[in-house]
Parts: sequence; C-alpha cells; structure tokens
Amino acid sequence: MAEPLLSVKNLTVTFGKHRHPFVAVNNVSFDVYRGETFGLVGESGSGKTTIGRAIIRVVPTAAGEIIFDGKRINNSISKELDKEVTHRIQMIFQDPMASLNERAKVDYIVAEGVYRRYKKQEREQRVEQALKDVGLLPEFASRFPHEFSGGQRQRIGIARALIMEPDFIVADEPISALDVSIRAQVLNLLSDLQKQRGLTYLFISHDLSVMRFICDRIAVIHKGVIVELAETETLFKHPLHPYTRALLSAVPMPDPIAERQKVLEVYNPNVHQYNESNAPFWSEIEPGHFIYASEKELLEYRKRLSVTK
Ligand SMILES: Nc1ncnc2c1ncn2[C@@H]1O[C@H](COP(=O)(O)OP(=O)(O)OP(=O)(O)O)[C@@H](O)[C@H]1O
Ligand SMILES: [Mg+2]
Repeated sequence: MAEPLLSVKNLTVTFGKHRHPFVAVNNVSFDVYRGETFGLVGESGSGKTTIGRAIIRVVPTAAGEIIFDGKRINNSISKELDKEVTHRIQMIFQDPMASLNERAKVDYIVAEGVYRRYKKQEREQRVEQALKDVGLLPEFASRFPHEFSGGQRQRIGIARALIMEPDFIVADEPISALDVSIRAQVLNLLSDLQKQRGLTYLFISHDLSVMRFICDRIAVIHKGVIVELAETETLFKHPLHPYTRALLSAVPMPDPIAERQKVLEVYNPNVHQYNESNAPFWSEIEPGHFIYASEKELLEYRKRLSVTK
C-alpha cells in the first residue's frame, strides 16, 4: 500500500498534573493514507477530539509519536516545521457558531490564517475564491457569522481551512450540529473538495451510518483505546470486537421489519476477563483488519472469521 501521510504510533495523551493523570488517549496507533477518508468513531468522551487536537498540536502528548509526511510533529519541533504543519493540517469543528469569532466579519474570519502570508489585495482575492469554492457568494465577505444559517456557517469554517491550502483536514463532527436536510450538502461538498484537491481526511463522528457513506477505513475507539480498525465494508460485514458490534447494532436499518426485530447489543466490558496471563494487545488479525484482543480472544475471532467468510 501507499505511504501513509499521517502515522500515529502508540500515542498517549493525559490530562492533569497529579501523580495519576487522566488518560484520555491510551497507546493508539493508526496510519492515514494520502487521499483517503479515515474515520474515527466512538461514544462521547472516548478521546476522538483529543486525538484531533494532538494532531493539530494544541494538546501535548505524553507518549508516542505523530509522524506527518515523514516527520515527527508532536511535542517540540522546529519553528519552520511548526509553520509548515500549521498550514498543511487544518481542523473543521462541530459547532460552526462556537468556532467562528462572532465579532469578526467573514472576510477576516476566513483570512485570519493567511494574514501575514498575503498582501491586502491578494488576500481579498483569495477570500473571494475560498468563499466560491465552498458555494458561498463573494458579497458574504462583509457580513457577520450570525447572519448565516448553520450550513452556511459550516461552509465558512471550511473556507477558513481551505484558504490555508492544506493537504490534511481533521473534520471533527462537521455535520452533527446541522439540520438533517443540509447534512448531505456539506458531506458532498467535503467529498468534492477531496476529489478536486486530493485532500486527506480524518473524519470524526459518533454516527456510523454517515461514516459508512464517507469513510474508506474506520477505527473504533472506546475509552481512549482503539479496539478495532478495518476497511469500512469489512467492519460492517465482519465486526469482531463486542464494542464495535454494539455500536453497529445501534445503526438503524432501512427495512422497517428487520429494524423492529433487531436485537440491540449492549457492550459489557466485563466479557473480556483480561488478566496478566490473558492481556489484550493490538494486532492485525487479517490483512488491514486490526483488533485489540488477548490471545484467547484472537483464537475465537479467527474462528468466527473463517466461518463467516
Ligand atoms: N483540556 C482537557 N482537560 C481535561 N480533560 C479533558 C480535556 N479535554 C478532554 N478531556 C477529557 O478527555 C476525555 C476525552 O475527551 P474528547 O473531547 O476527546 O472526547 P470525544 O470522543 O471527542 O467526545 P465527544 O463525542 O463528546 O466530542 C473526556 O473524558 C474529556 O472530559
Ligand atoms: Mg469531540
């Protein structure tokens, strides 16, 4: 397979300075390939945003490495590399209202990241182009965020990221706060931009039905630990980890009869019975399909795979 654009290796992020800090992200590893959409799914508080924030260098990491385009970018790095990463990696946030400066006009909001890169005239042109690229009118530049709908505000957030000419975008629940009717428009915009510019996405969501539509591969995270990672269709057809299975069982089915007869699986972490002689670890159970499991569980999972395939 191609070179990864981003590699996260044994990443741990902790909060709090006391002797027993809270471990928000615990020893996670994954690669994101150039041009793909890599999904990160998990319940609230599982550490998804924290991973995104570690990648854009706003939270320090306690252990492990983040490699971007061949260079380590976590913790202390050179000024030049910091500048490069600030341009090349951008983040789009869930709540477009909270993430845009309410007192600034759209032209300032969109141009903020390139204020020193371009002179006034060029900046104005670039803002105009960025607005066009996300389907907004150039005259919106002189308005304030509160004059826009949720979907338009999210487009402003996307324009603000695009003007930096990034190659990697962390999209953190970019459509979750939007009306259902405009979610597809914003998803299509993201997907068109990806095709036109060869962008690579880390797409964060708790909504697996959206992920199935947009992601090439998906990692499932539970309480700071990635428990399973596979190509999207593999994950949907052969989910192995009980947490993945529980998440998938909560996805509504299009067939109303099947939906009514469906049994919701509840994840009970006690099923694992891990101990020192039966400790879990991260391994590749079949090509491209990774799982967090003990030796004993791996045997069961392998058996299940050979039956279902
Ligand atoms: N700056 C911080 N200081 C202390 N704890 C934090 C901080 N940021 C996040 N946490 C904690 O880390 C855990 C993971 O948070 P995070 O925001 O990454 O979750 P998430 O998966 O993005 O959840 P959601 O789906 O609700 O956005 C949570 O328990 C959260 O309270
Ligand atoms: Mg979050």
